[in-house]
Amino acid sequence: MIFLQPIEVKPGIYWVGGIDWNVRYFHGYVTPQGSTYNSYLIVDDKITLVDTVKHYLADEMLSRIRTIVNPEKIDYLVVNHVELDHSGGVPKIMEVASNAKIVTTPNGKKGLEMHFKQDWEYVLVKTGDELKIGSHTMKFVQTPMVHWPDNMVTYIPEAKLLLSNDAFGQHIASTERFVDELGWDVVHEAAASYYANIVFPYGDQVNKALDVVETLPIEMIAPSHGLIWRSFFPELIKEYRKWASNETERKALIVYDTMYGSTKEMAYALREGIEDSGVPVTMKFLQADHISQIVPELLTAKLVLVGTPTINNGMLPNVASFLTYIKGLRPKKRIGFAFGSYGWGGQGARNVASVLQEMGWEIPEEVVNIQYVPGKADLDSLREKGRKLVEAIK
Ligand code: FEO
Repeated sequence: MIFLQPIEVKPGIYWVGGIDWNVRYFHGYVTPQGSTYNSYLIVDDKITLVDTVKHYLADEMLSRIRTIVNPEKIDYLVVNHVELDHSGGVPKIMEVASNAKIVTTPNGKKGLEMHFKQDWEYVLVKTGDELKIGSHTMKFVQTPMVHWPDNMVTYIPEAKLLLSNDAFGQHIASTERFVDELGWDVVHEAAASYYANIVFPYGDQVNKALDVVETLPIEMIAPSHGLIWRSFFPELIKEYRKWASNETERKALIVYDTMYGSTKEMAYALREGIEDSGVPVTMKFLQADHISQIVPELLTAKLVLVGTPTINNGMLPNVASFLTYIKGLRPKKRIGFAFGSYGWGGQGARNVASVLQEMGWEIPEEVVNIQYVPGKADLDSLREKGRKLVEAIK
């Protein structure tokens, strides 16, 4: 039998998760670097497993556990979060460790019952509760809506270790287990993408969770996806605070689709006007980039321009898809602008403006709609519009 190896992250505490080298689509979010589902085994008087993996990696997780202990001896399974990427392996663990009790929140219990229809034994916990398992103490902090109602994190004070579940995660499959082994730049980019695509709507709840986290002495933050943080804490917390508070930078993002090139020409004229005023612009063409690869730019851009031609009395489907996605992510405190070309009607760009308004964004300039193909005067006017939009973010 082949045994996949665990990694001891702290004395007596092991990473025993699964590496998903092949996952490329995560409920609408493309994950070109794959992901991991991180489980942690604490070997103490009571053998405790924190979180599991997607169902198809349960054997990989069990293989790692078997190199340390017989999984039948697991006493507690802490379920920080019931989403199936972390709870998919619960049935297999409970089958093998038939005497184990599941430690979770009341919402966690409800979620597990609805997912698995099993009559397992539970220990229900809430913020402030502790579970002594020998020389280690499991302290629980509920973090509802970061990003499901059941979410909690588990803190082990003796190890100064925070098992943060989805918070601080990144979708990266790698042989490295620690952020410092891959480097801040690589992991920060993945963490920002993860935040933008998964956690963005829940800034208020994230800030509340950070208030608690900042009171804890921490030497390690071990999330349930990607690399483990044993350094860069001030940088990480600062970034999370910024993202959670919708603090943006003086920069612009132009997102567009085009049919015959007119809306694209308009996008580039706007870009020239904005860049001419000293503000950097990121261009995102919806036929080239997936919407989930665009939203990390939205995390920090103050000025967001969205362009579409009109088709069948509306916007192009790629633009509608982008707007539907970002409406759900609820970015706040942005300045928006809509533009596009049309043959007759011109509803596409106007509908874009309505969606931006519905999101509560400031719209300082009227929609610009150009019939068929922009001429030189139109493009000059768009450059001027770009300059005016920059004035709105001063
Ligand atoms: Fe990684 Fe909300 O699950």
